[in-house]
Amino acid sequence: MWIVVHRGARGYLLKTMEDLYKKTFTIRGGDFDTAGEVSTRIKAMLKSIEINSNIIRRVAIATFEAEMNVVLHADNGKLDFCLTPKKITITVNDKGKGIEDTELAMKEGYSTASDEMREMGFGAGMGLPNIKKNSDEFKLESEVGVGTTLYLAIHLNEND
Ligand SMILES: Nc1ncnc2c1ncn2[C@@H]1O[C@H](COP(=O)(O)OP(=O)(O)OP(=O)(O)O)[C@@H](O)[C@H]1O
Ligand SMILES: [Mg+2]
Repeated sequence: MWIVVHRGARGYLLKTMEDLYKKTFTIRGGDFDTAGEVSTRIKAMLKSIEINSNIIRRVAIATFEAEMNVVLHADNGKLDFCLTPKKITITVNDKGKGIEDTELAMKEGYSTASDEMREMGFGAGMGLPNIKKNSDEFKLESEVGVGTTLYLAIHLNEND
């Protein structure tokens, strides 16, 4: 099925129903000047299309925490955002030191953040647990010395 998402000078822009909006954002590790921009842009985009505010809140929390984890704990990464009629999926792929024990990393309060990061207000060890809490699907995979992949989905229909 096709739907019209934009009518411009060159005619209609058609997209499949399966793939309403797709965008890739890059995230630079250690860059605190631009930290948070990706999640801010995604939040603004969702507000502009009038998605349910509770869904926007959950996406905003999950993307901010995932973005900050790349800034804090990895070298660089990208965030793939995809909106379909059923759900919002977010995949964050980074290159960096990776996570030795993902089960431990998921524990509330566990953090390897430095004193400097803690002075900036990070390092409560609540990011990953909060992402999971706000997601309907969640998968964390990591390879030490290579990088980390986080996949999450938030369903648009609250009964799903
Ligand atoms: N992308 C990543 N690459 C490498 N290590 C990570 C990554 N994401 C999380 N970690 C590891 O998992 C730990 C727990 O992550 P979590 O987001 O829960 O807490 P935090 O980032 O330390 O603190 P907070 O998110 O509360 O500011 C981190 O301290 C870090 O050791
Ligand atoms: Mg974190």
